[in-house]
Amino acid sequence: MSPDGRAALGFETLGDLRTAELDHRPSRDGYGVNMPPTDTTTFVPSELEGVDRYKLLTGLIVPRPIGWIGTLAPDGRQNLAPFSFFAVVAGTPPTVLFSPGRRTGTPKDTLSNVLASREFTVSVVDERLAEAMNLTSGEYPPDIDEFELANLTPRPGDVVAAPLVSEAPAGLECRVTHVVELTDPPTNTVVFGEVVRIHVRSDLLDGTRIDPVGLKAVGRMSGSSYTRMADGYFEMDRPG
Ligand SMILES: Cc1cc2nc3c(=O)[nH]c(=O)nc-3n(C[C@H](O)[C@H](O)[C@H](O)COP(=O)(O)O)c2cc1C
Repeated sequence: MSPDGRAALGFETLGDLRTAELDHRPSRDGYGVNMPPTDTTTFVPSELEGVDRYKLLTGLIVPRPIGWIGTLAPDGRQNLAPFSFFAVVAGTPPTVLFSPGRRTGTPKDTLSNVLASREFTVSVVDERLAEAMNLTSGEYPPDIDEFELANLTPRPGDVVAAPLVSEAPAGLECRVTHVVELTDPPTNTVVFGEVVRIHVRSDLLDGTRIDPVGLKAVGRMSGSSYTRMADGYFEMDRPG
């Protein structure tokens, strides 16, 4: 075990994997030296069909973290849906963003709720919750409570009313800071949120350091492919 205790957090395991499985290691002369030139194909996004732009980008930007976004409608209905156009973009101020697209021109329930309430939660999806997350991605009408549907236990945040997934290994409470429409009329809307509370299962913590292996977070590849922390990816079909 390393003297700083990193081994206890699983870093040694990951380090070993990296060493064992990389199929190209840089030569002593530096990165790229001795690599043969590669044949490439170039695409002009503006000349492609929307679906092809989407497939290229989501096939290349992988794996993507999944923000499992919890919101509350003005009438108190709960909503939960996954978004992999999702990222942490700053530590100070602590900021995440996600980007809901439109469903035949109308906002998804998550976006409608966020615009009304100006708050949301993000629950971390681990391997145990992957199927439940997938279930919550169905295109359900607004009166469907995805917590109920996926048999998940909601709990309100400490300072936002939007629900967190109790079963998740970690969750964030967020207040909306910016909403950016990418186009007019809108296609995707980027929602920025300041993280005002961070909840983490205590056994995953060493102070403020997270055990990356124990977290067992799931990442999204393209389509219905996913990655798990240490051993490749798995596939799962969306419902309906
Ligand atoms: C892993 C995963 C990631 C997704 N990422 C996005 C995304 O980034 N943007 C989006 O508009 N839809 C995304 N979806 C689809 C939404 O989850 C789906 O449209 C959902 O029904 C939206 O729910 P809502 O209407 O309750 O907001 C994703 C689906 C899955 C399974």
